[in-house]
Parts: sequence; C-alpha cells; structure tokens
Amino acid sequence: MSLTRDMKALVLSGGKGTRLRPLTYTGAKQLVPIANRPILAYVFDNLAKAGIKDVGVIISPETGDEIRQTMGDGSNWGIKVTYILQAEPKGLAHAVLTAADFLGDSSFVMYLGDNLIGCGIESFIDTFRASGADAVILLKSVKNPQSFGVAEVDANGKILRLEEKPKEPRSNLALVGVYIFSKEIHKAIGRTRPSARGELEITDAIQDLISAGRPVQSHLLDTWWLDTGKKDDMLAANTVVLDEWFKRDIRGQVDEKSVVTGRVTIDKGAVVKNSTLRGPIVIGEGAVVEDSFIGPFTSVGPSTVIRKSIIEHCVILAGAEISHVDRMEDSLIGRNARVVKCHHKHEALRLMIGDDSLVEV
Ligand code: DAU
Repeated sequence: MSLTRDMKALVLSGGKGTRLRPLTYTGAKQLVPIANRPILAYVFDNLAKAGIKDVGVIISPETGDEIRQTMGDGSNWGIKVTYILQAEPKGLAHAVLTAADFLGDSSFVMYLGDNLIGCGIESFIDTFRASGADAVILLKSVKNPQSFGVAEVDANGKILRLEEKPKEPRSNLALVGVYIFSKEIHKAIGRTRPSARGELEITDAIQDLISAGRPVQSHLLDTWWLDTGKKDDMLAANTVVLDEWFKRDIRGQVDEKSVVTGRVTIDKGAVVKNSTLRGPIVIGEGAVVEDSFIGPFTSVGPSTVIRKSIIEHCVILAGAEISHVDRMEDSLIGRNARVVKCHHKHEALRLMIGDDSLVEV
C-alpha cells in the first residue's frame, strides 16, 4: 500500500480547447463522455483510489468554467480540488510552472486530463517510492509513435533518450500521459527552452533530468491506454470501459414486457418499455427506450429517446432521438441529433452524426 498522503496530483485540463468535430459537444475534450461519464471522472477515480487527496487541476480561460462546473470541488471523490488557471497553453511543462505554488516541494502525479488507462496508478507510485527516482514515466508500444513523446530504451529497459513527436522515431514506445515527479522536475523545467512548436515540453524536461544523471524510471503499461480524441477511439473507449468497469445497477423503471440481461446500468428517471436490453450497456438519467433492442457496448446518454429501433455498439449523446431504425451499429450520435427512419430498408447504419443534426433515411 502506497503512502500517498504527502503526494499531490496535477491534472492537466487546459490546452487549446479544440473541438472534437463533428461534435460541438464541448471545447473541453477532457469532458467528453465515455460510458456517460466525463473522462476527468475516471482520472479523479484513479487519483482517489491511490489515496491522493490534494489535486490541482490546470484549466484554460476558454473551457475552465465548464470543467469547474462539471467536476466541482472533488467532494464526490473525497479529494480536494484546486483549480489553477493557465492563461495560455504554452506546454505541459509550462503548466507545471504555473502550478508551482500549489505543488511546493511535494512529489506529485501529473495526469493528462484526456488520457484514459485500464488500471490504477498505485503500482507506479510504489515504483516511484521504491526506486527513489526523480521521475517515473509510463510507456506503451503504439503504431504511430510520431504522434507522441517517444522513449529509446536499452535491452535492460534503461531509458537512453526521450524525444517529443519525432519525425523518425527510434522506437515505438510512446509516453503515456501519467507521470510521477519529485521536486527536481522544477529545476529541470527551469533549464528547458521552448520547442520548435513553441511549447515548454515535459518530455524535454525529463530528458534534462536524464542528461543531468538523475534517476528516471520507466514502467511498461500492460493494460490498454486510450487517447479519446477521435470517433473510433471514443467507441473503443466506450466498449472497454463498459466491459471492464460497469456493473448491473437498475435504478430506472423497467416494465414487465422488457427483458434486461447482463451488466446493464439504468440511471434513475430512465424508462424502459417493451424492449430487450443486453449488457454491457448504460442508459442515462431520464432516457426513454421503447419497443427497441439495445445490444452490447452501447451508451445511451441522458434524456435520449429511442423508439422502435435496434442498436448495438453505439455512443448516443444526451438528448438525441433514434426512431424506427432497423439496425444501427458502430455509430456515434451527437447531442440532440435525431435519426429518424422514413421508409423500409434492411441495412445496418454506420454513422457519425454531430450535435443538433437530423438524419432521415
Ligand atoms: O497523450 C500522451 C502525449 O501527451 C505524450 O505522448 C506526449 O509526450 C505529450 O507531450 C502529450 O502530447 P499531446 O500533444 O497529445 O498533448 P496535448 O496538447 O493534447 O495536451 C495534453 C493534455 O494537457 C490535455 O488535456 C490538454 C492539457 N494541456 C496542454 C497544453 C499544451 C494543458 O493543460 N496545458 C498546455 O499548455
């Protein structure tokens, strides 16, 4: 068991606030719902589970209010959240600099607010404690290393070099967005200069630690890791989260003509009539499902209405309406979008529908 009382956390939820097109869902990608919960909720789960109480959250002027309103003061998780405004997205190391007063001399977990990993962080904290390292980084092999920070390691797993988004990566080991640092990182950041893209890179700061001969330990992630920015990633994240973390929990109303099998979560105020639900699925608060089949790996957002439809492996965001659709699978439907079938056609639909759209097929 880790002694984490003295350890803080810094969650990075600032950044450019780019939209997850075609969803206008939010400027804050950290709030995109996976299985009806914002990604940040899973980040807070992991920090709370590791016993960390004192959590700083970096926010930007554009999306900070939305994040603050959605996530609150942390009391739902038994943690204390301090919001820290980063006026401009000048890089991950710049975010640490911005949080210098909050962090003081404490060791801390730095957690990127758009990263979702398939396990807790206790064992990385244990590695940090046991090794006495100044930094512990997490690595995962990926197909497109040029999109990430990349580590070059020797046969014994010792880190030789780190590079941010190299054009010619020396390995396929990407830096996952969870790091643990001692106070030495502040000195390293002080010696780091902005990169070609004009950001103060945490990757460069960790490379500085390595160059200065300070101990940096790596840990190979053996569970999944998801970057939640694209449609297929969102569906993949939804599937894996429903599969691994959701339990049967029925709080809404299910009439006697309905059959609910497996790990199905139905939130309060949801109504299911004359339908078959086969888990794992989640049905959000106030949703209505009537005369329909909902198959595995589907998230139905709050206040969504589904009538006379067959749906499987879909993410349907809040307030959407799906009506008379013979079969829809592998689809992402934005908030308040409507998919309404008008004539008879026996084909599966595969859709990516932005917020507030109407599709008639
Ligand atoms: O996801 C892992 C990757 O994250 C690592 O492999 C890279 O080494 C690391 O640099 C980072 O790369 P990205 O380019 O994906 O970082 P991004 O700009 O998306 O920012 C990550 C999170 O940090 C995101 O939640 C926004 C937040 N952020 C970002 C910047 C630039 C801040 O809070 N402040 C900032 O100034």
